[in-house]
Amino acid sequence: MVIVDVVRMLTLLIIFHSQSGRNEALALRCYEKAKQQAAEAESAIGVKLRRAFDCSLDEFNDADFILFITPENFAAIAGGMKDFFDRTFYPAERLGVQAKSYCCIIDCGNDGSQTALQIEKIMKGLHSTPAQPPLILYGEPNEASFQAVDELTEALVCAIEMGVY
Ligand SMILES: Cc1cc2nc3c(=O)[nH]c(=O)nc-3n(C[C@H](O)[C@H](O)[C@H](O)COP(=O)(O)O)c2cc1C
Repeated sequence: MVIVDVVRMLTLLIIFHSQSGRNEALALRCYEKAKQQAAEAESAIGVKLRRAFDCSLDEFNDADFILFITPENFAAIAGGMKDFFDRTFYPAERLGVQAKSYCCIIDCGNDGSQTALQIEKIMKGLHSTPAQPPLILYGEPNEASFQAVDELTEALVCAIEMGVY
C-alpha cells in the first residue's frame, strides 16, 4: 500500500505600498523574518512579497493570510494600496474569493486610524476580519519599529503554522 502524505502549502502574502521607502523597509523585514521562521520550523508556509501595484487577483486569491503594509495619505489608504483594492475587490467578489485572515501594518505621519478603518471595511466586504489589531507606527522606522514588526510576524507565522487562521 502506498500512503501519500499530501501537505498543502499555506501562503502568507505580504502586500505593500511605499512612496518614500519606510513601509517598504518594514515589508522587507517582515518578509525576511517570516521566511527565516518558516524555514527554521520546516513548516509548509510559503512567503510572498508583492508591491500593491503589481499584486494580481490570482495572487490574492491563492493566499491564505494577507499582511497589508501601507502608509496613510490624506487620511485615507495611500494610492498604491487603493489601486490594489480598486482592481481586485469586485473581481474577487465575483470569483467568490474565500474569506481571508489578514492584518495590517501602517507606518504613517501621525494618525493611521482612517487607513486601518478603510482596510477593515473593504475586507469586511470580502467576508474577512482582521486577525489582530493593526500595528500603527510613526515616522522613519527605528529599532523599536523593527522589533514590533518582528514580533507581529513571529506571532502570525506561529499562528498560521498551528492552524489558528
Ligand atoms: C501626500 C501625503 C499625505 C500624507 N497624509 C498623511 C495622513 O493623512 N496621516 C498620516 O498619519 N500621515 C500622512 N502622511 C505621512 C506618511 O504616511 C508617512 O510619511 C509615511 O511614513 C510614508 O511612508 P512611505 O515612506 O512608505 O511612503 C502623508 C504623506 C504624504 C506624502
